[in-house]
Amino acid sequence: MRRKIVAGNWKMNNNMSQTNSLIDSVIKKINFDTNCEVYLSPSFPFLKDAKIKCNSSNVKVLAQNVSHHEKGALTGDVSCDMLQSIEISSVIIGHSERRTIFKENDQLLLSKIELCVKNNLEVFFCVGEDLQARNSNDEFSVIEDQLNKTIFNLPEINPEKLVIAYEPVWAIGTGLTAKPSQAQEMHNFIREKFKNKYSKSISDNLPIIYGGSVKPESAKDIFDQSDVDGGLIGGASLNPDDFIEIIKSI
Ligand code: PGA
Repeated sequence: MRRKIVAGNWKMNNNMSQTNSLIDSVIKKINFDTNCEVYLSPSFPFLKDAKIKCNSSNVKVLAQNVSHHEKGALTGDVSCDMLQSIEISSVIIGHSERRTIFKENDQLLLSKIELCVKNNLEVFFCVGEDLQARNSNDEFSVIEDQLNKTIFNLPEINPEKLVIAYEPVWAIGTGLTAKPSQAQEMHNFIREKFKNKYSKSISDNLPIIYGGSVKPESAKDIFDQSDVDGGLIGGASLNPDDFIEIIKSI
C-alpha cells in the first residue's frame, strides 16, 4: 500500500517559542491511531530543536529548502550535510514560492534533487501550474515540462525517498482549492508519467500529495481521490486543531 502523508509547511512564520508550542500541541493532539505519516516543516533555526521534540513521537521533521551546492562561499545557504548532521533527512524542493520569488529554475532544482539523492535525503518535490496556464488549458504540459526538466533526468528513482507534491500556484494561499476531480486528474497524469518513465511498480508506490488551500472542510473530498495520497498544508497547518482535523481526514 502507498504511504499516506500530511505535511505542515510553516513557511517563514513562528519564532522559537511559537514553533515549540505548535510542535507540542500537534504531538499532544495526535493521540489517535492513524496510518498517515505526519511531517512538520519549521524554519531552519528551529529544525534541531524540532527534531529533538519530535523524537518522542511519530512526527517527522522536514526542511523547507536546501542549497544546490555541497559547500563553500554561499552566504545564507544551508547544505545537505548540515541537515544530515542534525538528523533532518527530508526536504521540500521546488516550492512555487522558491521558484517565483527566489527565481529558482528547473536546472537549479535538478542540482538540489541530485545532491539530496547523493546525500540520501528524502525529497518532497513540488510541481504546479499558474493561473494563466490553467486558464489556457496548458496545465498538463506545464507539469510534464517541470518533470522532464528535473526529476526525469535521474536515471532511476527510489519511491521511498521521493514524494511529489502537486501544488497549483493559483491555489496556494489564495483560499481557492482545486476541485477534487481536478486534483485526481492531475495526480493520475503525474503517476502515468512516472510509469512511462520508470516502471509501474515505481509509479504505484510513489506518494503524490496535493497542496493549495487545503482546509479541514475540503481535505476529505480531496484525500478520497484514488491518486491523492495526502497533503502539503500551508496556512491551515499553523492552527493545530485545523491541522489535526486534516490528518484525521485521511
Ligand atoms: P496553503 O499553502 O495551504 O496555505 O495554500 C500550501 C503550500 O504552500 O505548501
